[in-house]
Amino acid sequence: MVVTFYMRLLLIGCGNVGKAFVKLLAMKKEYLESNNIDLKLCGILTSKGGLYEPLGLDCHSLYKYLEGQGCLSNHPLYNEEVDISFFIEKGMDAVVLATPTNKDTGEPGIGYIHRSLESGLHVITADKGPVLLAYKELKEIAIKNNVQLGIGCTTGGALPAINAGLIDLAGADIYKIQGVLNGTTNFIIDEMEENSLSYEEALKKAQNLGIAETNPALDVEGWDTATKLLILSNVLMRSNKTLKDIKVEGITRLTVNELQEARNEGRKYKLIGTALKKHTSVEISVKLEQIDDSSEFYPVSGKNKAVKYYSDTLGELTVIGGASGVIPAAASLLRDILNICTK
Ligand SMILES: NC(=O)c1ccc[n+]([C@@H]2O[C@H](COP(=O)([O-])OP(=O)(O)OC[C@H]3O[C@@H](n4cnc5c(N)ncnc54)[C@H](OP(=O)(O)O)[C@@H]3O)[C@@H](O)[C@H]2O)c1
Repeated sequence: MVVTFYMRLLLIGCGNVGKAFVKLLAMKKEYLESNNIDLKLCGILTSKGGLYEPLGLDCHSLYKYLEGQGCLSNHPLYNEEVDISFFIEKGMDAVVLATPTNKDTGEPGIGYIHRSLESGLHVITADKGPVLLAYKELKEIAIKNNVQLGIGCTTGGALPAINAGLIDLAGADIYKIQGVLNGTTNFIIDEMEENSLSYEEALKKAQNLGIAETNPALDVEGWDTATKLLILSNVLMRSNKTLKDIKVEGITRLTVNELQEARNEGRKYKLIGTALKKHTSVEISVKLEQIDDSSEFYPVSGKNKAVKYYSDTLGELTVIGGASGVIPAAASLLRDILNICTK
C-alpha cells in the first residue's frame, strides 16, 4: 500500500462514541486503504487505565471484544498504569477525545486538550465542554503549536454545522444563526405529533431506541441545543457568551393537544435555537416555536437536525440532515481527522 497520510491515534474515552469510533475504523479499513490513508489506533485511555499497541490495535477484533464483554479492563493489553503522559511519550500524532461533556467545568476534556496541543498533537473532540468554555484559548494553543483542533462533532455530530460556517461561509459576516440542533427532542416531538404518544411515552421510546440518554435532562430541557448554539455563535460570530447569558426552554411542558391544535392549523412545533448579532452584542435564546411550511425547518423530521445561517455577502445557507446516533457522531470525528490529514 502506498501511504499518503499516516496518523497514530490515541482515543480518550471508550463509551458509546468511543466504541463506535473503534467500530467505524474497522468498517472503513478498506476505504481508508484505498485512499492511501493509514490511521493506526495505537492507544485507548479511560480514567482508570487503557490499552497500548505500537503497531496499531486490530479494530475489528477489538470492537467484537468490546461488543461481547463491554469491558476494556479485561482486555489482555489493559494496563492501569497508563495516562496521557505515557501516550505523549510514545509519540502519538492525534488525540480523539470522547470524554463526557461537563458544561460547568469543561473537565476532564480541557486538561487533555491543553496537554495534547502543547505537546504537538492534533485534537479532534466530541466533548463539547472544552469548546464551550475554552475554545479561544485552546485554538490559540493549537495555532502556536502548528496543529489542528477539530470541533465538527460538537455542534450536531454528522450535521456539518460548524464546518459550513467556517469553510463555506468564510469571509462573510454571519449575523444570524438558527437551528434545530437536537435530534432527540426532534424525534420526541415527532412521535407525539404523528403517533399521539404522550411526552413520557415518546421519551421512553427514544430511550429504548438508544436515541435519548438514560438521563435525558440535557436534551429535553434545551441545554444541549444551547451548548451547540453557543459554540456556533462564539466561534462564528466571535461572541464571548456563556450558558448563563441564554434564555433556555425545553420541550417538557409540550402536550399532544397543543401539537394537534398546531397541526390542524398547518403548523409544527420545533425546539429552535437563535443567535442574533445586534451591532457588537449577540442575543441568544432556545425556545419551542410554532412554524409553518414556509420555514426551512418544517420538514426536519425524526433524528435529523438543521442549521440556517444568514450572512452579508454569501446570503442564506441552510443545512439539513446529520441524524443523531453514535456511528454518525464517530463518523464526524473521522471526517475532521481526514480533513486534517488532507489539509
Ligand atoms: N452519544 C452521542 O451520540 C454523541 C454525539 C455527539 C457528541 N457526543 C459527546 O461525546 C462524548 C462521549 O459521549 P458518550 O455517549 O460516548 O459518553 P459515555 O458513554 O459516558 O463515555 C464516556 C467515556 O469517557 C471515559 N472517561 C470518563 N472520565 C474520563 C477521564 N477523566 N479520562 C479518560 N476517560 C474518561 C469513560 O470511561 P471511565 O468512566 O471508565 O473512565 C467512558 O469510556 C460526550 O462528551 C458527548 O457529549 C455524543
